[in-house]
Amino acid sequence: MKTLLEQPGFLAPSGTIGADVSYLLALVFTILFLVSWAMAKKAQGTRHHKLILVSMVSMVVYFCAYYYARQLGVLAFEGREGFGGTDDVYHNVFVPVLTTHLFLVTLGLVLAFYMIPLGFRASENTGGDYRLKTGELKMQPRTFKIILLTIFGCWALVQAILLAVRQNPFGASVAYGLIFATIALVVSAEKLIEKLLPTAARRHRILGRVTMVVFALVLVTSTATYLMLYVIYPHKS
Ligand code: HEM
Repeated sequence: MKTLLEQPGFLAPSGTIGADVSYLLALVFTILFLVSWAMAKKAQGTRHHKLILVSMVSMVVYFCAYYYARQLGVLAFEGREGFGGTDDVYHNVFVPVLTTHLFLVTLGLVLAFYMIPLGFRASENTGGDYRLKTGELKMQPRTFKIILLTIFGCWALVQAILLAVRQNPFGASVAYGLIFATIALVVSAEKLIEKLLPTAARRHRILGRVTMVVFALVLVTSTATYLMLYVIYPHKS
C-alpha cells in the first residue's frame, strides 16, 4: 500500500498518488459540506442533514484509512528535506501555512463532532422533515453528568487495555489522554455556549456557519500546501 501511494501522481509532475488522492478527496468533502450549507440556506433541513451525515462518515473513514496506510508519513511531516524552496520561504511561508492548516483541521473535526449531535438536539422531525426548534436548548444536569462519566469510563477502559497489551504504553496513553480530555472539554464548553447562545436555532446557525467557514479555510490551506510541495517548490532528488 505504502509503495502504491508513493508512485508518481497524476495532478502535478512532482506529486505522488498518495498526495493527489488525499488532495482530491479533501476537495470532494469540502464541496459536499458547502453544498449541504447551500441546502440549509434554502431551508432544506432533511437533505442538509443527510448530506452532512454521509460526508462526515466518509471523511472520518478516509481519514483513518489514509493516515493508517501512510502511518503519518506525509511528505509535509518529513521535515525540511521534502521541501525544495529556500530556508527563508520554508520558515516564513511553508511552516506557518502548514501549522495553520493542522490547527484548522483539528478545530474543524472538533466542531463537526459537536455540530452533529447539536443538529439532532436543535431540530425536530415533523412528518419526516427536519426543522430547527424555536425555544431554548439546555442540557439537563443529569445528562451532563452521565456524559462526563461515560467519557471518563471509556478513557479508563482504553487505558486498561493499553496497559494490558502494550509493553511501553506511554506515548499511546498521552495521545488517548489528550483525545478524551478534548472531548470532555468540548462537552463542558456546552455550559458556556448555553449562556452565550441560548436558543436552539440561533446556536445551530451561528456555530454551523463558523464550522463551514473553517472547512472552507481547510481547503484553502491544503491547496496552498499542495501547490508549494508539488508545484512551486518540489523536492529536488
Ligand atoms: C457538521 C455538522 C453540521 C453543520 C456544519 C451544520 C451547519 C448548518 C448551517 C450553517 C445552517 C444554517 C444555514 C444558514 O442559514 O446559513 C444549518 C441549518 C440547519 N441544520 Fe445544520 N449543520 C450540521 C448538522 C446538522 C444535522 C445533523 C442536522 C439534523 C439532524 C441539521 C439540521 C439543520 C436544520 C433543520 C437547519 C435549518 C434549515 C432551515 O433553515 O430550515 N444540521 N446547519
